[in-house]
Amino acid sequence: MSDTTPAVEAGRLDTEALEQVLAAPAARFRHDYLEVRGLRVEFDGFVAVDGVDLTVTQGDLRFLIGPNGAGKTTVVDALTGLVAAAGSAQFGGVDLLGRPSHRIARSGVGRTFQTASVFDELTVLQNLDIAAGARRGPLTLLRRRRSVPPEVEAALETVGLAHVRDLPAGVLAHGQKQWLEIGMLLVQDARLLLLDEPVAGMSQAEREETGLLLQRIGEQRTVVVVEHDMEFLRAFASSVTVLHQGKVLAEGTVAQVQADPRVVEVYLGTGAHGRGSRTAATSTEVE
Ligand SMILES: Nc1ncnc2c1ncn2[C@@H]1O[C@H](COP(=O)(O)OP(=O)(O)OP(=O)(O)O)[C@@H](O)[C@H]1O
Ligand SMILES: [Mg+2]
Repeated sequence: MSDTTPAVEAGRLDTEALEQVLAAPAARFRHDYLEVRGLRVEFDGFVAVDGVDLTVTQGDLRFLIGPNGAGKTTVVDALTGLVAAAGSAQFGGVDLLGRPSHRIARSGVGRTFQTASVFDELTVLQNLDIAAGARRGPLTLLRRRRSVPPEVEAALETVGLAHVRDLPAGVLAHGQKQWLEIGMLLVQDARLLLLDEPVAGMSQAEREETGLLLQRIGEQRTVVVVEHDMEFLRAFASSVTVLHQGKVLAEGTVAQVQADPRVVEVYLGTGAHGRGSRTAATSTEVE
């Protein structure tokens, strides 16, 4: 855990490297968009996602917010093949629903989890290499490579972890682990990134670094960020979808959504329990 390794400082993002990585392949991303229609997920009779429509275009940085249990993670799970869902979901012209997770990943859809899921015992570089291997296929993976592949090198620079490349991922600071996960999506060449609470537990400085990273990635890729933190949302979201009880309650710019009385109502209504209270406390500022 990060607490045991104060020697590892939070990395700074290398914006120059970021420019280089992000500048080149713009054409590949240009026409990407996520289109979700009537998404529905039921768990033993309980409807967790109830007819969600969602359109997110390339270049957008969409925040998906909502109180605890609103169905945010379940939407991401449905889009990445982890739970069965009805309705339709397409990205880059490919149907996502009903496909196994690995095929969804191959069609350019990547996600992170609420808790970081890197291999703690492996180095940062090895984690990225495995992610790159997932894309290369078994034959290439078996071949021993002497040098670091360029996409891995680029991802290391982009997420600011080049200086800790040979450390086991387990000793990274919390924020760095999340950046490593995002790096893993970049080497897999994910064009749609679904990030489930990427800044939870991060320091203020780490949040800012992450927000800038997501903004830059979002210029070309399609990015959906599940988030609770209203301050982070205000600083970095370009558009917002609010989920409540499995349904879309509101959608628009940060200002539009914050001015929506239904949104204020929902957050105030959940103020008494769970992490919703964090959001409730901040949402009162917009009244
Ligand atoms: N595997 C499951 N089986 C049964 N119910 C589930 C399952 N997964 C989620 N749920 C329920 O579905 C609802 C939506 O859960 P989900 O995790 O998507 O919410 P969320 O918006 O991500 O909440 P949080 O902000 O707490 O992460 C909740 O009521 C949850 O208890
Ligand atoms: Mg969740």
